[in-house]
Amino acid sequence: MDRLVVTGGVPLHGTVRISGAKNAALPAIAAALLTDEPVELENVPDVVDVGSMLRLVQRLGTSATHVGGAPGRIRLFTPELVSVEAPYDLVRRMRASVLVLGPLLARAGRARVSLPGGCAIGPRPVDLHLKGLERMGATIDLVDGYIEATAPRGLRGAEIEFPQPSVGATENLVMAATLARGTTRIVNAAREPEIVDLARLLLAMGAKIEGAGTDVVTVEGVERLAGARHAILPDRIEAGTYAIAAAITGGRLKIENAPLELLGAAREKLVEAGVELREAENGFEAARANGVLEGVDVVTRPYPGFATDLQAQFMALMCIARGAAMITETIFENRFMHVPELMRMGARITVHGGSALVRGVERLKGAPVMATDLRASVSLVLAALAAEGRTEINRIYHLDRGYESLERKLAAVGARIERVP
Ligand code: UD1
Repeated sequence: MDRLVVTGGVPLHGTVRISGAKNAALPAIAAALLTDEPVELENVPDVVDVGSMLRLVQRLGTSATHVGGAPGRIRLFTPELVSVEAPYDLVRRMRASVLVLGPLLARAGRARVSLPGGCAIGPRPVDLHLKGLERMGATIDLVDGYIEATAPRGLRGAEIEFPQPSVGATENLVMAATLARGTTRIVNAAREPEIVDLARLLLAMGAKIEGAGTDVVTVEGVERLAGARHAILPDRIEAGTYAIAAAITGGRLKIENAPLELLGAAREKLVEAGVELREAENGFEAARANGVLEGVDVVTRPYPGFATDLQAQFMALMCIARGAAMITETIFENRFMHVPELMRMGARITVHGGSALVRGVERLKGAPVMATDLRASVSLVLAALAAEGRTEINRIYHLDRGYESLERKLAAVGARIERVP
C-alpha cells in the first residue's frame, strides 16, 4: 500500500489548478442513465471514485469513452440498459453508487442496488432516498442486503418533505422525478452547488426543474430526456483545501479555475482566522495575512453553512492558530478520526461529543500517521506540510478517491512530498 512522505516547513508558492468537483461528477454520470442518447461531460476529475462510478454504469450498459479536446471529457452512451443491478462489490467501495437507484427506476421501472454498508464516518443510512421513492409509487424491499425497487407502472409525482436536508437523497429524487408522471415537490431539499450543477445538466437534457439551489425543488416529469453536453463545476472542497495549504504553510497560492464565492461560508471563517483571500483572474489568491492565525469557532451545517467536507482541513489549520477554536460537527457522527492522528503530530485537541476544542500550538512535529477517510486524510497532509520534520502518511488510498493528482499539484508549488509504494 502506498504511503506519502512529507517534509514540512516549506511555504507554498505558485498556482494550483482546481479540478472538476467529484461530488458533482458522480451524480452527473448517474444522470446519463436517464437517456438513450449520448451525454458528454467535461471537467470530470480523474479520481478513483469517478472510476468506480464509471465501472458501475458500464456494468449497466453505458459505454464510457474518454474523448480528447478538453480536460476530463467523457462521453456516456446508454442506448439500452443491459442490467438494473448495482452489485455489492462495486457499491461497497463508494456510497454514492446508490445514485443509480433513481435513474434506473425512472428509466426501467426496476432496480436492484446493494445497500451501502456502514462506513467509517458513521452509519449514513439511505432511508430518505427510499421513503421518497416510495412516495413516488415505487415498491421497495430489502432482500439479502439489496434494495429491490419496482415501479411497473412508472413513477408518479409526489410531495416529499425531508426531516433534514440530504444531498444524495435530493439528487436521487430529482433524477427519478424527471421522468415521473406529474409534478414532484421536494421540501427541505439540500441546496449544495453540486445539486444546482446536476439540475443544469438535467435541464440541458430537457428536464423541467425549478428551485434547484433553494430548499424547495419542483420537477415536472417529461416523457423522455435527450443527450446533452455539460461542464462539471469546479471542486469547492479542493479549492478550500489548497487555500488552507497556502495559509498553513505561510505561503501564497493562486487558486485557478475556481471563483472565490464558491468557498461559501468557509470564506468568512478563513478570513476571520487571518487568511487573506483575494479575487484574481480566473480564480483567487490565498495567503496568510499577517503571519498570525487566530482561533475561530466553526459549526458544520448543510449548505450554505460551513461544509463538513472542509472540517478536518480547517481543524488542521486551527492546530497552529493563536488561541482556541471550537469545531462542532453536526452532519456526521464520528467524523473526528483525524483528531488522534493530529495529536500524534503535537496538536492539542479535546473532543466532547460532537465538538472538538483545539488549542493552538507553536508548531506541529512530523510523525507517522494513518489516513482514515478522504477528508481526514488530506487534513494530515496539510498538517504535515506545516510540521517540523518528516511525516509519513499511511493508507493514502482514501486520498486518491477524491483528490486529483494531490502530490503532483503540491510538489509543483514547492511542497516536499513523495509517494512511496
Ligand atoms: C454528500 C457528499 C459528501 C458530504 C455530504 C454532506 C457526495 C457524493 N457526497 O454525501 O461528501 O460530506 O454530502 O455534505 O456528494 N442521511 C440520513 N438518511 C438518508 C440520507 C442521509 O439519515 O437517507 C443523513 C446522513 O447520515 C448525514 C446527513 O443525512 O448525517 C447528510 O447526509 P447526505 O447529505 O445525504 O450526504 P451524502 O449525500 O451521503
